[in-house]
Amino acid sequence: MQTEIDISSIPKRTLFSGEEIPCMGLGTFGSDKYGPEEIAEAVYEGIRIGYRIIDCASVYQNEDLIGKSILRAEAQEIIKRDDLFITSKVWNDMHEHVRESCEKSLRDLQLDRIDLYFVHWPFPNYHAPGCSGDSRNPDSRPFSVDEFVNTWRQCEELVDEGLARYIGMSNMTVRKLEAVLPYCRILPAALEMECHPSFQQQELYEYAVGHGIQPIGYCPLGSPSRPERDRTAGDISDLQMPEILEIAERHHVHPAVICLKWAVQRGQIPIPFSVKKEQLKANLMAAAGDPLTRQEMEQIRLADKNCRLIKGQVFLWEGARGWEELWDM
Ligand SMILES: NC(=O)c1ccc[n+]([C@@H]2O[C@H](COP(=O)([O-])OP(=O)(O)OC[C@H]3O[C@@H](n4cnc5c(N)ncnc54)[C@H](OP(=O)(O)O)[C@@H]3O)[C@@H](O)[C@H]2O)c1
Repeated sequence: MQTEIDISSIPKRTLFSGEEIPCMGLGTFGSDKYGPEEIAEAVYEGIRIGYRIIDCASVYQNEDLIGKSILRAEAQEIIKRDDLFITSKVWNDMHEHVRESCEKSLRDLQLDRIDLYFVHWPFPNYHAPGCSGDSRNPDSRPFSVDEFVNTWRQCEELVDEGLARYIGMSNMTVRKLEAVLPYCRILPAALEMECHPSFQQQELYEYAVGHGIQPIGYCPLGSPSRPERDRTAGDISDLQMPEILEIAERHHVHPAVICLKWAVQRGQIPIPFSVKKEQLKANLMAAAGDPLTRQEMEQIRLADKNCRLIKGQVFLWEGARGWEELWDM
């Protein structure tokens, strides 16, 4: 069956294995605003439109319904399983039970192997889904290389046993990567990191690329619908940055499309979220054709505000100075 967007027009990225995957994926976190049914329907629509990377996580609490959407698309011969590149992530409370967590995601997603399995956050610090921004878990503690490497060993076993094709890290810093990479028998294929025009993380981006790790950019539109707990006075809205608005006007597109064109041309794989068909389509089409000029890319590069949106304060431990400590600042 034909997809709405010609997939051959979507550029590819090459993983360290030489395998090529599309330069854009679909996010599945509903930001406490969209329910599992709506998101599962968006995944089905997304596959029909032409998305092939679906970014899932156990903590998003919707993998079971997403699994049904994948089966539906397969039954209708829109895709074959091997056409898709499905990711999932181990949540903070399962760092010592990675296999159990991965098997649960596989059952929910109705898959026999995951394409890329991430350690979602580098701390085993748990917070209940939907909790407020100032809630703290008394068991939370700072990053530990030993604890992380113990979790990574279990991820490596997933690859050994064929449950995961690749493994990845998320929400890391250069300092943390430097500390753990020497202990990795299997290197991360990808690094999922916050990345949008007002928060480009150039140093981390370059470090990942320099080590053969593909950056995957989350919140590529500046997550305009993110939960209250992730909003802070002073946050910058990417969709309202003057540079983005000006370029969008020139290309006659929504500012969201410019954020995605920038991401694709820079080299990270953006994973925008949407449940709206027109947005899903516009977002994927941003990857195909009408590129930004070198001058426009430079204009956006210079517009970086180092404005982190997902500060992660719910993962802080008693006595921590502030969210900056999570990021080695
Ligand atoms: N690894 C991690 O720790 C981590 C953390 C955060 C996110 N993620 C992943 O990254 C994905 C994306 O991040 P995100 O969902 O927070 O933020 P995002 O993709 O930057 O923003 C999504 C929101 O942008 C709006 N939007 C989407 N397409 C649009 C368009 N074409 N025009 C105008 N508005 C548009 C929609 O808002 P409305 O619904 O209001 O229209 C949508 O809900 C998540 O779904 C998740 O898979 C991973």
